[in-house]
Amino acid sequence: MSRWPFVGHRQASQSSQTSTPAPTEVILREVAESSPAPNAPVDAATSAQHDGLEIVTSSLILPETVTSDVPLIELRDVTRSFPGDPEVQALKAVNLKVNKGEYVSIVGHSGSGKSTMLNILGLLDRPTVGEYRIDGHLTGSLSEEERAAVRAQRIGFVFQAYHLMPRRSVLNNVLMPMAYAGIPRDERHDRAVEALERVGLSHRINFMPGTLSGGERQRVAIARAVATRPSLLLADEPTGALDVNTSDQVMDLMGELNASGLTVMVITHDVDVAARAPRIVQLTDGRLTEGNVPDLSEFEAEFTPALEVAE
Ligand SMILES: Nc1ncnc2c1ncn2[C@@H]1O[C@H](COP(=O)(O)OP(=O)(O)O)[C@@H](O)[C@H]1O
Ligand SMILES: [Mg+2]
Repeated sequence: MSRWPFVGHRQASQSSQTSTPAPTEVILREVAESSPAPNAPVDAATSAQHDGLEIVTSSLILPETVTSDVPLIELRDVTRSFPGDPEVQALKAVNLKVNKGEYVSIVGHSGSGKSTMLNILGLLDRPTVGEYRIDGHLTGSLSEEERAAVRAQRIGFVFQAYHLMPRRSVLNNVLMPMAYAGIPRDERHDRAVEALERVGLSHRINFMPGTLSGGERQRVAIARAVATRPSLLLADEPTGALDVNTSDQVMDLMGELNASGLTVMVITHDVDVAARAPRIVQLTDGRLTEGNVPDLSEFEAEFTPALEVAE
């Protein structure tokens, strides 16, 4: 049943280079502690099972567009400025269209705006100027609650440092976001098991994250991200803490998910990881370019592999 070889050796678990922890904290806080939206349907059985987790909404905030010529995501002249002295323009008039089913790598030097762009795409942050559309729908006018619901229903996240909940089993980690996505309670377990089978971890469902290798943890994180059947998978340095073999396995999995129809966007500084995508976009000091295949080795040179740092 499992398509994944067991990864027998322990990886370093910590990450030394998570550049923007705040958005992740936003997600984890929502997953772990959110109270129900006002007037949200309360599912008592869910509360009992998941320590107060409630369904945010069961209806799609942004309905899926059926016409195929509408891009899944579109950034129009997006600028993100961080106030300060001097102000930092992390993104400068970025334009980007990504169609359903695409697989895109995002490369660029450290500080070039990659995570800022991913945070905006993931509705964890807002443009200072410009428009972000998902499936043709403008996101700028959505309330925070609506943004959280769209995020839960349409977007899966994978981060370098996995961000699993350490005191929850693998199964419970994967079950968590499904309450938010409004997935009926009686479907969640089967979907979680299916997602864990898909990443080759059905034999680990009752394990605690701390007992897993780095590659296994990232595969749990991927299962968690796709169990809700999102439209878009966003990954920020998903292999940054993994060794080469494990990284290959994780990226094989990303490729399989894309081949099954999921739109995938991966930030990476790793040449081999970036080259797996048929489309590569580059950020340079907040400006997005595409077309010339970048010399990826220049990005790789400035990163120290987290694994080596950890050992
Ligand atoms: N919350 C923030 N406040 C102020 N400056 C920020 C913030 N987040 C990112 N930046 C700045 O924006 C620029 C781009 O950052 P980031 O998107 O994290 O780059 P990358 O992911 O490519 O390394 C950097 O100069 C960074 O210091
Ligand atoms: Mg970053």
